[in-house]
Amino acid sequence: MEPITIVGLGGSLATSSRSLAALRVALEGAAEGGTETLLFDVRDLDFPMFMPRASSVPKRVRDFCDAVDRANGMIWSSPLYHGTISGSFKNILDWLQLLSDRDPPYLTNKVVGLISTAGGTQGLQAINTMEFIVRALRGWAVPLVVPVGQAWKVFDDDGEAHDARTEEQLRALGLEVTHAARHFATPIDPLPEVEDVEAQLQPISAAEIAEA
Ligand SMILES: Cc1cc2nc3c(=O)[nH]c(=O)nc-3n(C[C@H](O)[C@H](O)[C@H](O)COP(=O)(O)O)c2cc1C
Repeated sequence: MEPITIVGLGGSLATSSRSLAALRVALEGAAEGGTETLLFDVRDLDFPMFMPRASSVPKRVRDFCDAVDRANGMIWSSPLYHGTISGSFKNILDWLQLLSDRDPPYLTNKVVGLISTAGGTQGLQAINTMEFIVRALRGWAVPLVVPVGQAWKVFDDDGEAHDARTEEQLRALGLEVTHAARHFATPIDPLPEVEDVEAQLQPISAAEIAEA
């Protein structure tokens, strides 16, 4: 069986990040399912703001995009900021534009598990936003999602979890991403007619925009 790799992306610029703590638990679940896991912490990544056709792209940005390109699946974990995902998290996703010229492009054939942490109870709003992004990047969001409400009660400042049910859900999400990634790792022929239609409907790569 081919080894499966899951890349986790999450956290905030806060020194103690609950969305990062939640991501760690989900990645543990993925590892228990037999995958290799890689964690990218938004704070450590410290990416510049995305700039289309930037003349120089930092090595750490290229390394991240290459790791995503090699992975079979991802787990995203964003805090809820003002009813949606945080700007720092979205900025990193914008850099995935560098995957526009890969074959296949963006997150084609990759599965993505979604987590949000919120101070209140509206975390699903960030999940919904992320689901739109997964689809725009041609990936596949797995059915299970984990919006962690009142995250300050669930994770302490050291990232320790104090809610067995949430921990269980996060581990289950990691397992589900692993399971789905295994299915997608089985080689299947692409459907050219579907790829053509996708490219017309979502012209987000530089080449496609130029041709439009
Ligand atoms: C700028 C900002 C905006 C926020 N907006 C919301 C919000 O709209 N709804 C909510 O429930 N919590 C909101 N929160 C609380 C965060 O979602 C919550 O503290 C989350 O766990 C932060 O994740 P982190 O620990 O990874 O930084 C906000 C926090 C900040 C700093």
